[in-house]
Amino acid sequence: MRLVRFSGRFADWRKECRTLLEDGVAPHTLTWQVDSAGDDLFAAVGEEPARYADTRAALKVPRELPELLESAARFRADDRWALLYRVLWRVTGGDRSAMLAGDIDGAVLQRRVKAVRREAHHMHAFLRFRQRDAALGAPQFVAWHEPAHDVLDLGAEHFAERMGRSTWLIATPDGAAHFDGTRLHYQEGCPAELRAFAEGIRDDGERLWQAYYASTFNPARLNEKVMRGHMPARFWKHLPEGPLIAELMSQARAGQQRLAQTAAVGEQDGRQVLIAREKAQPQRPLPSSLENCRNCDIWRDATRAVPGEGPPRARIMLLGEQPGDQEDLAGKPFIGPAGEVLARALAEAGLRREDVYLTNAVKHFKWQPRGGIAGRAATRLHATPKPAEIKACRGWLGKELEEVQPQVIVALGRTALASLLEIHDPQRVRLADFAGRAFAHQGRWVVVAPHPAAVLRAADAAERRFAELAEALRQASELQEVMPT
Ligand code: URA
Repeated sequence: MRLVRFSGRFADWRKECRTLLEDGVAPHTLTWQVDSAGDDLFAAVGEEPARYADTRAALKVPRELPELLESAARFRADDRWALLYRVLWRVTGGDRSAMLAGDIDGAVLQRRVKAVRREAHHMHAFLRFRQRDAALGAPQFVAWHEPAHDVLDLGAEHFAERMGRSTWLIATPDGAAHFDGTRLHYQEGCPAELRAFAEGIRDDGERLWQAYYASTFNPARLNEKVMRGHMPARFWKHLPEGPLIAELMSQARAGQQRLAQTAAVGEQDGRQVLIAREKAQPQRPLPSSLENCRNCDIWRDATRAVPGEGPPRARIMLLGEQPGDQEDLAGKPFIGPAGEVLARALAEAGLRREDVYLTNAVKHFKWQPRGGIAGRAATRLHATPKPAEIKACRGWLGKELEEVQPQVIVALGRTALASLLEIHDPQRVRLADFAGRAFAHQGRWVVVAPHPAAVLRAADAAERRFAELAEALRQASELQEVMPT
């Protein structure tokens, strides 16, 4: 077996091929290895390569082959160079079917060419530049993109043609393209600082775009499968509208679709409209007071229901999961260990507890006993509320939203976010999809943050989680001045 080591660049692969074909080296005797070392590119391992009588000195290939090979070489797969050489070997040997979709190698080649074309299209369509503050100078626009294949230069050329003399940078996990206003420059590899820079740009214009996107999204016309087909979910996290998509889709699933369809049919109170409205109602009516709430069974083991606390009208509402042990005893939210973390984060964000409204998605403390042997009382250990219990409490949150009229809601953790967006199962919510991105929901801003208890549990990552929490609160503080729509 012969090992061919080369740089991994298509031009260098071509050079290797020329020599290999001239020497009549058959594909099955070769192993390709990408090696950035640069020297010692050819190393013979084991026995001598098999030689073929028909030396292929005259490298005549059909006109379209180089382009096909160059395109398929961008497809990331372990066997990419081996496949290309096999096709080249067969075609130069007179077997042109190796390029065609009906052939075993040709089929793979053609599929890869198509996938690369599609990935380049994805880059044109789903790459989002963020604009930097003009005072910071070049680059004016920065984008972070994660292509599945090697299409950075294809995308960069596309944008170089369209963005005039603006300066911009596109960074990807494997390299970057930089346009200085007249010329494109490429860099291989992406050091951590570059990635952090590209991912960390904040662009205030995005809020406007998010508001526009949310207001033009029509749940009645949503076809989730088609949408995911056109816009793969792996791109959502880097789109400013990404968190909105998940939210709007979940709303569509949770009944907005039916309501929007019926509304589109007409506003008449026909049977269809009535059914849709009934289904959209909360399951159980609220009792006369929170203290009497028996909508689920959590109340049985709790001391009392813990209401929200704060000004009767507040611009910012912080929404937690459920009261803890100390909150249950005192009847006030966020006064235990999680409350202490929250207090520190509020201070860091320049907010005062007395100015914000603090509440929980679930109003009773759900717990399970732990320990309690030899005369010692059991510890009341936090237990996660079930989807049905969160739903049973949703009416109370709706009432608080109506009364307090917050401009910004900070959802602390999954349960809070799921309750707010009326997603049945919090396990289906990925907080990472929302991190650092505010979105508009029913005329209010929603900012997603780690729960303060998650900061306490985070061990090694505690500092990072705390910073995320403080940053979310800082963002909420800024957004209280901005109308979402
Ligand atoms: N955790 C919460 O989610 N809420 C509280 O009130 C206390 C701890």
